[in-house]
Amino acid sequence: MRIDGARVLLTGGSRGIGRALAEGLLRAGARVVISGRNAETLDAVAEALRSQGEIVGVGGDVGADADAAAMVAAAAEGFGGLDLVVNNAAILTTPTPIVRTSPETWRAVLDANVVGTANVIRHALPVMEASGGGAIVNVSSTWGRSAASGVAPYCASKFAVEALTQSLAQELPAGIVTVAVNPGVINTEMLATAFQSDVSMYTSPEALVPAWLSLFEQLDASWNGRSVDL
Ligand SMILES: NC(=O)c1ccc[n+]([C@@H]2O[C@H](COP(=O)([O-])OP(=O)(O)OC[C@H]3O[C@@H](n4cnc5c(N)ncnc54)[C@H](OP(=O)(O)O)[C@@H]3O)[C@@H](O)[C@H]2O)c1
Repeated sequence: MRIDGARVLLTGGSRGIGRALAEGLLRAGARVVISGRNAETLDAVAEALRSQGEIVGVGGDVGADADAAAMVAAAAEGFGGLDLVVNNAAILTTPTPIVRTSPETWRAVLDANVVGTANVIRHALPVMEASGGGAIVNVSSTWGRSAASGVAPYCASKFAVEALTQSLAQELPAGIVTVAVNPGVINTEMLATAFQSDVSMYTSPEALVPAWLSLFEQLDASWNGRSVDL
């Protein structure tokens, strides 16, 4: 897929991996909608990145169907279509054993990470078909392939993202592909929550950008349904 000129929806673009990727995409010539629940932070990021290219911030929760629809609509109406969706938004709650994890925590994590991904896909697919095809990249994790103690809701959610990607791959019309991508262990707020320690020694989100762009550029039918490490 050609990044220069691509119309992109990148969920969770206000910090961490998403923010760095938004900037990388803009520099490569893409037009980008970013989203996040904290609209104030999101607007500040969109404003800061505007000098790099065309960017729109849409506040909202991907787990809320109407919010997901608004994110897709912003790309469809603002850019006239959608070529690439990166389902990056996700949460990880403070590590807790399953025996002390509440139903509310389970629902919050699964709503954001799984239902949110499905919501965006449901709204994006018809727009992508009308736009001539493209790619849906679902951000997974090492914890989407093997699990660890204390983070069961997050692990379950990322296993579900892997499964969702495999199902989707078999349902997609010709011209649209999907992959699940494990970005590795990256120095972000989420990682600090996961490890409950200093994570500054890990790879920065900015250092990951060339690998993201290279992956996007390679995506074609042969990649459909694959589970990829960045
Ligand atoms: N960091 C790592 O080592 C690592 C490893 C493997 C996989 N990942 C995956 O990489 C992706 C990015 O992680 P990160 O480390 O960059 O996380 P992060 O620093 O916590 O950033 C998460 C982003 O998603 C947004 N977000 C969270 N919940 C949302 C929701 N329900 N609706 C809309 N936006 C939402 C956040 O903004 P708001 O809080 O304002 O909503 C923020 O912009 C995630 O899918 C994560 O699971 C990360």
